[in-house]
Formats: sequence, structure tokens, C-alpha cells
Amino acid sequence: MAVRVRGLIKSYGNVHAVRGVDLTIARGEVFALLGPNGAGKTTTVEILEGYRRRDGGEVEVLGLDPQRQRARLKKRIGIVLQSTGIDSYLTVSETVAMYAGYYPHPRPVGEVLELVGLTEKQDSRVARLSGGQQRRLDVAIALAGDPELLFLDEPTTGFDPSARHEAWQVVENLTSLGKTVLLTTHYMDEAEHLADQVAVIAGGRIVAEGTPATLAGRDTARAIVGYRLPDAVAAPPRFGGAPGSDGLIEFAPDDLTAALHQLTGWAMDHGVALDGLRISRPTLEDVYLRLTGTAPDETDTVPDGTAGERPNGEQR
Ligand SMILES: Nc1ncnc2c1ncn2[C@@H]1O[C@H](COP(=O)(O)OP(=O)(O)OP(=O)(O)O)[C@@H](O)[C@H]1O
Ligand SMILES: [Mg+2]
Repeated sequence: MAVRVRGLIKSYGNVHAVRGVDLTIARGEVFALLGPNGAGKTTTVEILEGYRRRDGGEVEVLGLDPQRQRARLKKRIGIVLQSTGIDSYLTVSETVAMYAGYYPHPRPVGEVLELVGLTEKQDSRVARLSGGQQRRLDVAIALAGDPELLFLDEPTTGFDPSARHEAWQVVENLTSLGKTVLLTTHYMDEAEHLADQVAVIAGGRIVAEGTPATLAGRDTARAIVGYRLPDAVAAPPRFGGAPGSDGLIEFAPDDLTAALHQLTGWAMDHGVALDGLRISRPTLEDVYLRLTGTAPDETDTVPDGTAGERPNGEQR
């Protein structure tokens, strides 16, 4: 196991940010932590990194306690904070080389830049990089020490679609090197594309965990059949009856195969087309919204003005 967390608790004054979180992350796995703003993702991740102190619970990261064995852990993990400030006067390769210098067995700078797709920008000053390129540099810095485990807190927030797909490629490159990745994201497609396992956290508690495909019974949820008919034709009640306001007729059959056979047979007999015929199951976003919409949110919802900064006394 790369990460084992049992009963993790953390409060900031009277804000109960994390209220008994359990997590297990296997080595070589990509694990995504999903949850609304203020759910406790960054708090959890930063406790695992050794940058925040926990109030209670057991935490083991690469076999170490991040609170008591932080120095040993630091050499073996890579971190991308939710937001970072790096010295913008250096060039890209100087920056990565500087961070590599802190580690016992760094990965060669050229290889790191290749992994994150910044080879062509190696001599550019950091100040000249676009937002997406700076984020890649954040990942490059996290990779400089050739870590076993990477923490990526919202690695693609603010990226354009193609930059996000390129970032996914970076994460895939990492897993092919056998690295373990813990990421947080607000993008369901990102979790679906990258994660082996996902956990949804809301109000400081894990409310669901599983693979993206099976989370909260997604895979076994009943399929919904949808189609449209010409205005003059009415659908029999067993095939959904009256259309919704968007003209779509929907029904959720017990036996999908039989229902489709009967529906298409009925349409052929009546000489009508089933426009836009589709079969849908809940998307990851559907189950996410259901899980987080109903989850108790008892934390004080103070706007999080602390993104990327360390609490007092816990500076990097
Ligand atoms: N240093 C701090 N001092 C006081 N309260 C804090 C501090 N850091 C976080 N909090 C509070 O703890 C709760 C959890 O915050 P956290 O940053 O872990 O959420 P998050 O899931 O990462 O949210 P987001 O998606 O917005 O990044 C929030 O209510 C937040 O306001
Ligand atoms: Mg956060």
C-alpha cells in the first residue's frame, strides 16, 4: 500500500474540515479525490504530505508517518499545490535543476521536461510561460526528485481543453513508470479518464468510493431509454407515454433487451421513426451531484482564501 488512512480528523478552530476519513491507495494506482469546494480535499492531501498536522486518526504514507517522519517522506514524494509561486526570473531548466538539487536521486532534468512536454521551453524564463505551461512546470518540479508518490491538487484547473488532455498524458506517463498518484479534481471526465479509484468527499467525510465506472452503483443502475416521435404520433404508456417539455419520451424498462425489441417493433408496425433513440445510464457527474447534493454540510462555509498557502507555522 502507498497510503493508508484511518479515522483522520482535522479542525481549524470550530471548522471541522475533516471528520473521520478512511482511505487506502495501492502502489501504482491513480486515486482521485472528488468533492465540492471546502469539502476537505486539500486538508486531507496536505496532511498526507506532512504539511498540516492532524488532530486524530492514523496516517501511513509509503510506510511512514508524515507528521513524525516528514524529512524521510519528503525525499520520496512529489507535490503540486493547488496554487504555487515560483521564482519567475529563472529559466525552466534552471528551476527544475534547482529543485532536483534537494533530492538524493533526482531524475535528469531533460527527462523531466520531456515527461511534462516542456522541452522546447527549457530556456524560457518562467515569467514568460502561459498559465498552462506554468502548471506543467509545477508538475516538473514535483517530478524533479523522481518521487514514488505524487500529490496533484487540482492539476488542471484553468487549463484549456487541449492542455488538459496533454496533462492527462503526463499523468499516464507517470503511471507507466509505476508511480502512485493522488489527485484532486473538479472535472468528472478527468477522474473518469485517469483514475483507477475515486472517492467522493463532502462535509469532511467520504460519502462514496469505488472505480469511476461503478461508483454508487452506476453500472447496475437501470438504463433509461429515450426517443422522440412526430407530433401527431402518441407513444403507448408502456413505452413512456407523453413526452417531456423537450419532446423527449423516456422510460426505464426492467428488461432492456425485450423493451427495445418491442419498442422498435411497434415503431416499424406504425411506420414511424424513433428520432434520437438513446440508452443512458447515470454519468459519473450524475452520481457525484446526487452524492454531494444530499451530503450533510455542517462545516462553516467560509470562503477558502488559503489556497496553496500553508497555515502559520507549517511553512514548506
Ligand atoms: N488554514 C485554514 N484555516 C482555517 N480554515 C481552513 C484552513 N484551510 C482550510 N480551511 C477550511 O477547511 C475546510 C476545508 O478546506 P479545504 O481547503 O480542505 O477544502 P477543499 O476540498 O480543498 O476545497 P476546494 O475544492 O475549494 O479546493 C473549508 O471550510 C475551509 O474554509
Ligand atoms: Mg482544495
